[in-house]
Amino acid sequence: MIGNPVNYDKKFKDCIPTLPIKLDPELKRYLNLISGKEVLDLGIGQGKNSIPLAELGFNVTGVDYSTKCLEICKNNCNKLNLIHSDIRTFNIEQGKYNLIHSRFVLHFFIRMIVMRL
Ligand SMILES: C[S@@+](CC[C@H](N)C(=O)[O-])C[C@H]1O[C@@H](n2cnc3c(N)ncnc32)[C@H](O)[C@@H]1O
Repeated sequence: MIGNPVNYDKKFKDCIPTLPIKLDPELKRYLNLISGKEVLDLGIGQGKNSIPLAELGFNVTGVDYSTKCLEICKNNCNKLNLIHSDIRTFNIEQGKYNLIHSRFVLHFFIRMIVMRL
């Protein structure tokens, strides 16, 4: 496996930053291209994009390694399907999702690859 998950539970131990829960304009622009309602968010964090998507009627599954982030999501929205898992080993069901997004997550792994070159 490449890289390590950032330990957000440790990061949020003493201070939980509140982030704006607002759909990214880039994602909003492409919503009409999504052919169905099933969405997967790899590294959901506090649900910045996924909470608005769930409120818009999408069936959102959010995966995260941080139990603290999942708890924050759960407290802010009861429409999310939340899974505690490392996305590097998470099994993505073939053909299930109409949109898979992962914002500000994959760069953690890319940084690790660069460091190993
Ligand atoms: C910078 S936050 C971004 C959160 C959200 N995608 C957003 O745009 O606000 C990165 C998130 O990825 C999660 N994460 C990092 N590596 C992970 C891994 N290997 N498996 C699951 N979650 C991971 C962290 O716990 C954290 O919630």
